Amino acid sequence: MITRETIEEVKNRIDIYDVVSDFVSLKKSGQNYKGLSPFNNEKTPSFFVVPAKGIFKDFSSGKGGDAFTFVMEHEKMSYAEAIRYLAKKYGVEIKEDRSSTESKEVQSERESLYILMNFAKDFYKNTLTQSEEGRSIGLSYFRERGFNDRTLEKFELGYALEGWEHFSKEAIAKGYNKDLLEKTGLVVKKEDGSSYDRFRGRVIFPVHGLSGKVVAFGARMLGKEKNQPKYINSPETDIYHKSDVLYGLYQGKNAIRQHDVCYLVEGYTDVISMHQADVENVVASSGTALTESQIKLIRRFTENITVLFDGDNAGIKAALRGIDMILRGGLNVRVLLFPDGEDPDSFSRKVGTTEFQKYLKEHTQDFVSFKAGLYAKEAAGDPIRKAESIKEIVSSIAFIPDPIKRSVYIQETSNLLKIGESVLLTELNKILIQERRKNEKENLRSQVVEETAILIEDIGGQVKIDPQSLVYYQERETIRLLLNYADQTVEESKLSDFLLHELEDVEFTNEVFKSIYQKFKEAAHHHQQIKSDYFLHEGNDVIKSAVSELITSRYDISPHWGDKFHIHIPKEKDMLNEMALSNVLRLKFRVVQKMMEDNLQKVKNAESSGNWDELDKVLEIQTGLKKAESELAGSLGIVVAK
Ligand code: CTP
Ligand code: MN
Repeated sequence: MITRETIEEVKNRIDIYDVVSDFVSLKKSGQNYKGLSPFNNEKTPSFFVVPAKGIFKDFSSGKGGDAFTFVMEHEKMSYAEAIRYLAKKYGVEIKEDRSSTESKEVQSERESLYILMNFAKDFYKNTLTQSEEGRSIGLSYFRERGFNDRTLEKFELGYALEGWEHFSKEAIAKGYNKDLLEKTGLVVKKEDGSSYDRFRGRVIFPVHGLSGKVVAFGARMLGKEKNQPKYINSPETDIYHKSDVLYGLYQGKNAIRQHDVCYLVEGYTDVISMHQADVENVVASSGTALTESQIKLIRRFTENITVLFDGDNAGIKAALRGIDMILRGGLNVRVLLFPDGEDPDSFSRKVGTTEFQKYLKEHTQDFVSFKAGLYAKEAAGDPIRKAESIKEIVSSIAFIPDPIKRSVYIQETSNLLKIGESVLLTELNKILIQERRKNEKENLRSQVVEETAILIEDIGGQVKIDPQSLVYYQERETIRLLLNYADQTVEESKLSDFLLHELEDVEFTNEVFKSIYQKFKEAAHHHQQIKSDYFLHEGNDVIKSAVSELITSRYDISPHWGDKFHIHIPKEKDMLNEMALSNVLRLKFRVVQKMMEDNLQKVKNAESSGNWDELDKVLEIQTGLKKAESELAGSLGIVVAK
C-alpha cells in the first residue's frame, strides 16, 4: 500500500496540462486547453483540459476526471500504477505501508502481467548469453545478422530454449501462478489441462510499450524449416493490443522528435539494422497494415512519416494502402523505395552506414511524385489507364484534411502529369463533396462541442458565464433560423411550425427577439407566412438592424473560401433538420439553467429568512429543474456537473 502522504504529495505537484500533454497535443482555448480525443478517432477536437479544476473532459467518449483518471484510462493502468507513474514523473519518493506489503497475488492483475513479462524478458535475455544452447544457437544467429552487443542490449534480445517447459518451470519456481502464465500468452494451455511454453527454440524480440515496459514478444525461427511460421508472436492480452503498438517506438521516440520525421518499416530486423546504421527514428508496424491508432501514436512525436519498402509488387501495394491512411490522419507522407529485393535490413548491411544514410536522403520522394511515377510506367500510351491513375492520385489528395496542402499537391500533380489544374480540381471537389455529405452530422456535433466549451469554462468555475448570455445566444439562434428558413421542411413540417410548436412553453427574455418571435406566432395563428423583408420594412430601427444582421448568413464567406482553398462548405440548408432539433433542445437547456439560477436565489432567501414552507417549495422546484436539465443535457450529449 502506498501511503496517503505519498498520494497527497503527488496530488500537490500534479499539473494536469503537463500530464495530459505527454500524450495529447493541446491547444489553448480560453482558460482551458483542447485537443483531439485520445480515446476516439475524431477530426474536430472535443477533448478539454481545465487546469483551474485539475480535470479533463472528453466529449467524444464521455470520459473525464483528474490526472490519475487520465493516466489510468489512457495507459490502462491501475490506480496504484498511476500513482507510481505520476510520482516518478514529479520526482516524489514513494513510501509504502509496511503492514500491507503487497504479495504477488494482491497486486492488480495488469501490474502482475507486466511483472511477469519483465521476468520473461530477463529470462530469455539471460538464456541468450548464459546458456550453452543460447550462445551456440541464438547468439551466433544474431552475430550472423551483424547485431552487435549494444544492439542486443538496446532491444533486449533473447533466446528461448528448445523444450516444452523451461520457461514455465522457472516461472512457477519463482512464485508466479499458472493462470497468470496463460494470461500473458507465454504459456499455452491444452484441452486436457496441461500446458507448454509458447516460444521454443527461437530468438526473442521483446516488444516495448511507450513507457518501456515489455508488452509482447516476437519469436523468430532460426533455420529455414518449412511448415513452421517464421515468427510466433504473443497473442492479444490485457496489456497488449497489437494495433496500438509500434515496434521500435520506445527506442526511437527521442530521435523521431529530434529529426521530426519517422521512418516506417515492416519488420523487427529492419528497425534493428537501421539503428545499427545510426538511423534511430524508425518504427515497424510488424507485418500488419498500419492502423489509425498507430498513426496517432507517431503523431505525438512528429507529423512527418516516410514509408520505406522493398521494390517488389507486394511491398508497393502495402505501401499505397498505408499512404492513404497516413494522409487521412493529417500527417505528411513521403516514400522511399529500395532496389528490387532489398529491404532496409539487407540494404543497410549491404551498403554500410554512410551509403545507407545517403540513400535515404537522396531517394525520398513525395507521395504524389511517387504515385505519378508508378502509374506513368503502367499507363504509358494508354489513355484509359492514365485517366484512372489521375483519379487514383486525386483520391489520395482528397484524404488530406488541410485545404492549403491539398491545393499545393494539386498544383504539383498538374505539373507532373501535364494536366490542367482545373480538371484535377473538379475531380477533387467531386470527391470532397461526397465526403462532406457524410461528415455533415459530424460537423454539427462539433458545433455543439464548441458551445459546450463555454459551458465547461462555466463548470471549471474560473470564469462564471452568465446563463443569461447563453439564453440570449440561443434565442438569437432561434430567431435566425426562423428568419432564414421559416418555410423549409424539418421533421416533416415547416421549420417555423416546428419551432413554434416545440417552444410553446418557452418565454423569450430578450425584448427584440421576443417581439420578432411574437410576430411569427401571430402570423402562424392566422395561417400566414411571414418573411424577413417584413421586418426590414415594418419594424422599428432596433428590429431592423437585428434582422438585417441575422439574415446575413455566417456562411456567406463560403464562395470566396471555396475559390481560394477549394473546399466545400456544407450548406446550412442541408443540415436544418439537426440544427432545428438541437437548437430547440439547447434553448430549453439554457432556459432551464437560467431558471435554476433564479430559483437558487429563492432557495437562499428562504433559507436565510427561515421561511421553511417556501424553502420546501423552491427546493422541489430546484429538483425538478435539475432533472429537466440533465434530461436535456442527455439528449444533447452534454455532461452536467452534479
Ligand atoms: N511477421 C509475423 N509473422 C510472420 C511473418 C512476419 O509476425 N510469420 C511480422 C514480423 O513482425 C516481421 C514482419 O512481419 O518482423 C516483417 O516480416 P518479414 O520481412 O518476413 O520479417 P523480418 O523481420 O524482416 O525478418 P527477416 O529479415 O529475418 O526475414
Ligand atoms: Mn527482413
